[in-house]
This record gives sequence, structure tokens and C-alpha cells, in this order.
Amino acid sequence: MKYRHVLATAYGPPDVLQVFESDVPEPAPGEIRVRVLAAGVAWGDVARRQAALPAYPPPPFPLGYDVVGMVDKLGAGVTQFSTGQRVAGLTFAVDAEAGTYRLFGYSEMVCGLARMFVPIPDHLDPAAAVCLVLNYLTAYQILHYDAKAQAGETVLVHGGGGGVGTALLQLGRLMGLKVYATGSSSKQRLIQELGATTIDYTTQDFVAVMRHEAPNGVDIVIDPIGGEYVERSYGLLRPNGRLIVYGLSSMMGEDVARNAGVEIERINAMSDRDPAKLVKFFAGVDDESDHYHADLNALFGLLAAGKIQPIIAHRLRLEEAPLAHHLLETRQVGGKIVLDLTRA
Ligand SMILES: NC(=O)c1ccc[n+]([C@@H]2O[C@H](COP(=O)([O-])OP(=O)(O)OC[C@H]3O[C@@H](n4cnc5c(N)ncnc54)[C@H](OP(=O)(O)O)[C@@H]3O)[C@@H](O)[C@H]2O)c1
Repeated sequence: MKYRHVLATAYGPPDVLQVFESDVPEPAPGEIRVRVLAAGVAWGDVARRQAALPAYPPPPFPLGYDVVGMVDKLGAGVTQFSTGQRVAGLTFAVDAEAGTYRLFGYSEMVCGLARMFVPIPDHLDPAAAVCLVLNYLTAYQILHYDAKAQAGETVLVHGGGGGVGTALLQLGRLMGLKVYATGSSSKQRLIQELGATTIDYTTQDFVAVMRHEAPNGVDIVIDPIGGEYVERSYGLLRPNGRLIVYGLSSMMGEDVARNAGVEIERINAMSDRDPAKLVKFFAGVDDESDHYHADLNALFGLLAAGKIQPIIAHRLRLEEAPLAHHLLETRQVGGKIVLDLTRA
């Protein structure tokens, strides 16, 4: 039996992404084979295709963090799932010898580590469900564990119209936070619809706006952009304020992989300036600890109850992966792009 999957055939523009046909793989011990219904497209995929983040193996290499699908076959030792069950999870395969890992969600079929998946209700829209696995989980863990956000606090979310940004706005509102968000002009309406006060950074200085709106300072700033945003955001924090940086989008076009380590150290060291302020780089969703499954289950509970409604900018076919990357890297996406494998 054959299946189709996307590989980046080289580092370069979006059209290096091509569809290949291969024999369906067998799940290794501890893995499940999943027939994919929806796969997320993320900024990190674009960065890997552009060689700004390390990809593995050398081209051709696969991409794609997050999938929703149906369990098709169980590897040896897997007892927590059954075939036909609907699941969601992160793709992830570690090569201990090479000291690296592969992500491989752009595919009709994946063999993934069973421990990275949770069962989800059958009735959920797979495209909406897949938004939870990377974007909402990132937002949830930042808000709960790093920012330790409390109802009534003021939060400034940079890049509020993005995939993780829209998740932060929805979850922040649910937690009773007073949310402000920066975005370019095209993202203003979406940010407003999600209940946040918008700041159009193309025409407004976010520091001046927040000094006016919150003269005593901001409790939390959450930033995917880095660069000069970090220092300017730090200056807005009130005592006990928290600045959580989770991306370095401003470094795109540079060798992020080479320079990010120094930048992340610099960001984390900012906490030493004032013990009453926390500055932290959120390196990635914590999939090792017990709360990985609990957090995903909490998010799927919110989705099933209609309390969160992921913003899906585009549902594209597998072979439209190059278009998905073009839209993301030209910043035309409000919310998340999903590869919808249920579409012919
Ligand atoms: N640490 C983690 O675990 C984790 C997890 C997921 C994502 N991330 C990182 O978080 C960031 C956002 O990811 P995402 O998937 O949400 O991306 P996204 O959907 O593309 O959203 C990012 C938003 O940031 C703005 N932006 C993009 N490039 C920019 C630049 N060079 N300068 C200023 N603003 C820029 C864009 O909004 P405007 O049009 O308003 O400018 C865009 O909507 C990425 O850096 C990604 O690598 C980290």
C-alpha cells in the first residue's frame, strides 16, 4: 500500500516542497500508525525550509509538527490506543546518534510515538482540533506555567493575529485577563473580534499606548518577535511583571540556529537585573512531563464545550503545502493554516 507525503527537496523557496509516494511504513515498538486527517503548518516549518532552523536529515527532509487522525495500526507494546480511534499529537522522532529529531506531519500516514498522542472525540472538526496540538498548547503552557497569569491581570500579546497569538487571545480572555495585542493593519479586525484591544504597530508605538493604558505597568508581556521588542517590552513591566519570549521572528533571514543560543541566553539573563521581574525564553512545549497529556486533554475539553474556536485561515490540500508556506512567510495568515487531508 502506498501513501503520499511532502518533503523539502532542498533549502529554498516554497516550491522546494514536493509530494512523494512511498510504501506505507510499519510502526516500530512504542509507535502508532495514524491515518492523518489534518496537519498543521507552522512558522517553524518555514524556518526549517529556509535553513534558519536545523532540519533533519539533510534534504530531502520532512516537515510538520502537529497532526489529527485515526489510529491505523499499533506498534508492539502499545496498549493505550485501539485501531480506528481518533487521536491528536505531535510528530517527533529522535535520532539519539545524530543528536537531532525529525518532524513529519505533512503526510497521509505517520508513524509517531504513542506517548505524544491523546485520544479525542470523533465529532470534532479535525482542522480545528489540530490547532490545539502546537499553537494552543504553546499558549496554554506559557500562560499557566511561565507567566502564571491570574484573572484581572493586564497582558500585552505581540503578534496577536498569528497562530499562537490568536490562541493566546482566546485563552487569555477565558482566564479573565485584560488583553492588549499588537499586529499589522491586516490583523486588526481579527484581534478585535477576539476581544483584545488592538495596537497597530505600523502606525502606533506600543510603548506609548501601553504607558497611557496601564500607567502603573503591565503584568505580562508575551512576545514571538524578539529583537528590539524585548527591551522595549521589559520597560513596560510593573513589579512582579513577567516577560515571556517564545519566538525570534525578527531574526528570520539570519542564521537563527547559529545566533539564537546567544540571544536566548541574553534574554534569560535579563531576569538578573531586577529580582521582582521575570524574563524567560519559552523554548518549546513540554512533552516530557506529566502535564503534557493533562494540558492537551484540558484544551480538547474546552474545544468540545465550544469555549475556544480556533481561527483557521486556510484549509489547503497536501499538494498545496508550497502555497501554505508562501502565505505564512508573507504574513498573510490570521490564525492557522491547516493541510486538510479529508479534501480530495
Ligand atoms: N517556543 C515554542 O514552543 C513555539 C511554538 C510555536 C511557535 N513558536 C514561534 O512563535 C512565533 C510565531 O509562530 P506562529 O506559528 O504563531 O507564526 P504566525 O502564525 O506566522 O504568527 C506570527 C505573527 O508575528 C508577526 N510577524 C511575523 N514575522 C514578523 C517579523 N519579522 N517581525 C515582526 N512581526 C512578525 C505576524 O503578524 P503581523 O502581520 O501582525 O506582523 C504574524 O502574524 C515563531 O517565531 C515560532 O517559531 C514557538
